[in-house]
Amino acid sequence: MAGPRKLIAGNWKMNMLRGEGLDLARAVADGGVNGDVDLLVCPPSILVGAVAEALTGTGVAVGAQDCHEAQSGAFTGDISAAMVRDAGASHVILGHSERRHGLGETSERVRAKVEAAHAAGLVAIMCIGETEAERDGGKTLDVLSQQIDGSLPMGERGFAISGDDTVIAYEPVWAIGTGRTPTLDEVLAAHAHIRAHLQESLGNNANSVRILYGGSMKPENAGDLLAIDNVDGGLIGGASLKAEDFLAIAAAA
Ligand code: PGA
Repeated sequence: MAGPRKLIAGNWKMNMLRGEGLDLARAVADGGVNGDVDLLVCPPSILVGAVAEALTGTGVAVGAQDCHEAQSGAFTGDISAAMVRDAGASHVILGHSERRHGLGETSERVRAKVEAAHAAGLVAIMCIGETEAERDGGKTLDVLSQQIDGSLPMGERGFAISGDDTVIAYEPVWAIGTGRTPTLDEVLAAHAHIRAHLQESLGNNANSVRILYGGSMKPENAGDLLAIDNVDGGLIGGASLKAEDFLAIAAAA
């Protein structure tokens, strides 16, 4: 069965000043959005508005890299989901490992952020992934289930998400920015596990939830990774900072 349309998402992280970011965004748009792939760029929050404006009408979507779970209030330095939406974004990355592990963000907090994103009309890209020690200890699939269970909004009958409002990104922590990736069989197993876990709660509706792979995806390995069953796109860090590489990954999809 054909899966959902592929989504190729660039996570710029804390890179790009305004001029460079606008150039990159325009180069991505000029590279041509072909009909088969959805493209998304996620600049630093301070550039979301400018990039969204530059990309209006191009078909390339814009996302933020985080938001706060509260609607408003005394949270110095934070931005709300409604602000992200108001700036012209349609997506927000939540629970990235650089926030879970680097900043101590818990699954409980990620869940609150996903709920806030949904309430603001944003698509949440919820990230999960095992550390190297967890993989070595044979705990990868358990960790993925736990993070999903802890981080997705729950309704009375299971996960309160759909393919329209939520994307899952599987990013092994040890593969991010390292040039290392799991084997294709390991990616296959992880994505199959995530799909099955979603199906336990959502039944066939789980099949429309996109599951992205992230972690050292680049033009050289994108074709193989994106051809794996249940890999519905990529979340790309380093290689999203060059339009040429990002577009080559999109072409591989
Ligand atoms: P990377 O980052 O492509 O540089 O490994 C991926 C990510 O952290 O989203």
